Amino acid sequence: MSSSLAFDVYGTLIDPSDVIRQLRPRLAGEAEGFYRRWRDKQLEYSFRRGLMGAYVDFAQCTREALAYLCAAEQAPLDEQVQQQLCDAWTRLPAFADSAAGLAQLQQRGAQLYAFSNGSHAAVNALLEQAGLADFFREIVSVEAVGNFKPAPAVYQYLLQRTGSAAQATWLVSSNSFDILGAAHAGLRSVWVKRAATAVLDPWGIDADLQVSDLRQLAERWPG
Ligand code: LAC
Repeated sequence: MSSSLAFDVYGTLIDPSDVIRQLRPRLAGEAEGFYRRWRDKQLEYSFRRGLMGAYVDFAQCTREALAYLCAAEQAPLDEQVQQQLCDAWTRLPAFADSAAGLAQLQQRGAQLYAFSNGSHAAVNALLEQAGLADFFREIVSVEAVGNFKPAPAVYQYLLQRTGSAAQATWLVSSNSFDILGAAHAGLRSVWVKRAATAVLDPWGIDADLQVSDLRQLAERWPG
């Protein structure tokens, strides 16, 4: 049976930090830090909603995180601008190595899946506009489970969709919490260390493989 590779979307295939370009005219030197805090708050909201059993579309976590930051930091971003910034999450670009890496992996016979906190419709449209949709057998969204990564149930659902055993299913992600969540659920994992400064949470759990981008993954993945 061939192995399955399931790719995290935001931060692994697709670059959400592209929104910094939209923030810069309004926040100048603060734009990058603001983006990082927005992303952290977005994920915090997804974790909290998972714990509370209060699932909403991931786009709502994104929107509410931005509204929180604007209020807490008195950022000069009115509601219309906030809406534009949230809309920018539907038009994010792929990382430069994504398409080439996926094509090489496909040639090697891997079954490719996209696996995301984003809704099925949002991820489908995002991958389409970024030119990546055709690489995937299926988009697997946590919305079918009504919870978020790293809840074990969402990784179990991924296994249901791939039909592959946990030890033949690789979660590929740049997000440390996703790597730990997948390992905890018994899957194999590939950490895409996209930034030299990125750190895997020191929980005594290592990824099975560490790469700097998806081209390197295509070269080093053991299959
Ligand atoms: C995703 C987020 C966690 O795509 O990056 O699932």
